[in-house]
Amino acid sequence: MDPLQILIVNGPNLNLLGRREPNAYGTETLATVEARVQTVAAELGCQIDFRQHNHEGVLVDWIQEAGERHDGVVLNPGALTHYSYAIRDAVAAIAPTPVVEVHVSNVHAREPFRHDSVVSAVAAGIIVGWGTLGYELALRGLVAKLSAS
Ligand code: DQA
Repeated sequence: MDPLQILIVNGPNLNLLGRREPNAYGTETLATVEARVQTVAAELGCQIDFRQHNHEGVLVDWIQEAGERHDGVVLNPGALTHYSYAIRDAVAAIAPTPVVEVHVSNVHAREPFRHDSVVSAVAAGIIVGWGTLGYELALRGLVAKLSAS
C-alpha cells in the first residue's frame, strides 16, 4: 500500500514560532517542530509535506491542492481561524479529506476573540493547548483515522 500523504499547513505568523510571544507559544521554532514531526511520520510510515505561509489565498490554494493530492491535512490557520470564511470553505470543499485543526496555545484561556473558530465546525477534529506537541498528536490521530477507514 502507498504511504499516506499528509499536508501540514501553518498560517500567518507561525514562521515566527520560538521568537514570537514565547509565553503563549513556547520557544521551539517551526523548523524544530517540522523535524520532530518528520520523525513521527517515519515511525508511522506516512509522508508529510510541512508548509507555512502568511497569505490567506496561498493557504486556500494549498488546502484545495490537498483535496487532490493528500489523504489528510493538519492545519493551524493562526489568526485566520477566527474570521476566515475562505479557509473554512476550503476545508469544507475538500470533504471527505479530513482536516485536523491545531492550536499551539489554549485559545480558550486567552482573549475573547480567540475563543471562536470558524473552521472547527468543518474540521475532523481539534487539538488545542498542547503546545507544539499538538502537531504530533494531530498527525497520530489523522493516521489512525485514515488507517481505520
Ligand atoms: C494560534 C492561536 C491564534 O489565535 C493565533 O492568532 C495564532 C496561533 C495557536 O497556534 O495557538 O497565530 O493558532
